[in-house]
Amino acid sequence: MASVELHNVTKIFDNQVYAVNGAELTIQDEEFVVLVGPSGCGKSTLLRMIAGLEEVTLGEIRIDGTVVNDIPPKNRNIAMVFQNYALYPHMTVFENLSFGLRLRKYPKKDIRERVLEAAKILDITEYLERKPKALSGGQRQRVALGRALVRKPQVFLFDEPLSNLDAKLRVHMRVEINHLHQRLRSTMIYVTHDQIEAMTMSDKIVVLDKGVIQQVDSPLELYNNPTNKFVAGFIGSPAMNFIPGEIKANGEMKFQSRNFSITLPSKVQKELKDSATQKDVIFGIRPEHIVITPQADESQLSEGQEIIVDVVEPVGNEIFLYFTEGDIRYCLRTDPTHNYRPGDKLDVKFNLDKMYIFDAASDHRYV
Ligand SMILES: Nc1ncnc2c1ncn2[C@@H]1O[C@H](COP(=O)(O)OP(=O)(O)OP(=O)(O)O)[C@@H](O)[C@H]1O
Ligand SMILES: [Mg+2]
Repeated sequence: MASVELHNVTKIFDNQVYAVNGAELTIQDEEFVVLVGPSGCGKSTLLRMIAGLEEVTLGEIRIDGTVVNDIPPKNRNIAMVFQNYALYPHMTVFENLSFGLRLRKYPKKDIRERVLEAAKILDITEYLERKPKALSGGQRQRVALGRALVRKPQVFLFDEPLSNLDAKLRVHMRVEINHLHQRLRSTMIYVTHDQIEAMTMSDKIVVLDKGVIQQVDSPLELYNNPTNKFVAGFIGSPAMNFIPGEIKANGEMKFQSRNFSITLPSKVQKELKDSATQKDVIFGIRPEHIVITPQADESQLSEGQEIIVDVVEPVGNEIFLYFTEGDIRYCLRTDPTHNYRPGDKLDVKFNLDKMYIFDAASDHRYV
């Protein structure tokens, strides 16, 4: 097993596109790390550089302490599972699993042992003589994982391996890959743009935007302590609400938007001091922290604001209510104890223990 270290890793395509820019990252031995970010942010490029499928323009990649920039992919002891895992249709599952090892001229006995071991781990032993077309989507995906597994690599790289599966199967495979990691204890780097996958699978999440690593942290730390507005908006579903406005300081400090006026708690006032006054800011609040009043304990809550519900989304264990102010739609999350309808007028308050303030120009987080 192995650690993976990136130092100032940069990929420039065609002398101009910075697909990955100055990546600094240490992945410990046995860690499960997820790379997330919007389409085009550089996730696959980063993974492909670690695998050796893409040349590094600048910087250094170390696997288990050794610089691998000039080591070809086949000598890196890494296995990669792609989104399009195309199995060979004319080969049985056994032949699909053993194909890579046969190419590498492993002894027959060794190949057989490895295939049987991988099949056992993935619970596909009974399908070894079947062709892929006689398997379900999930079983095929397990065969694809098996092809990586038989190599017994130091590091597994996954590039959106579940994105072709339906919702239910995704959840199932997510649990299986987690389980696989617990059994094998190998280092795994997993790319997804599904943040539920990222939150539930990883020890550590790397959030990328426009080729730049924004934050590296545990899932809960990212959720509670995002470093900037991008991370705050990317992690969490439905996303954090962002209300544009200004900080006004006439005696007491207030956040003022077109529709909301919120007196800031003294702790926030101290932290902000002069840095944010008279500047355009964004007030951030997650859907679960806009609460419908009256409540038993309102000590942490802001002044009341009246809203009119325009969309109701009951999802079973909770309800999302949407309301519009100006041209921005906001979301609040509440218990399914009440039957809300579009047009309902509600009094809501913001939980100021859970508020964020960002600089509108730079996305930098003040509070
Ligand atoms: N071979 C290439 N030549 C030029 N530009 C490229 C090449 N490969 C990728 N890019 C660019 O690099 C950037 C990062 O691409 P990459 O495939 O790493 O994104 P991604 O995060 O994996 O996106 P997705 O979620 O859509 O898979 C994009 O702007 C892409 O257009
Ligand atoms: Mg990609």
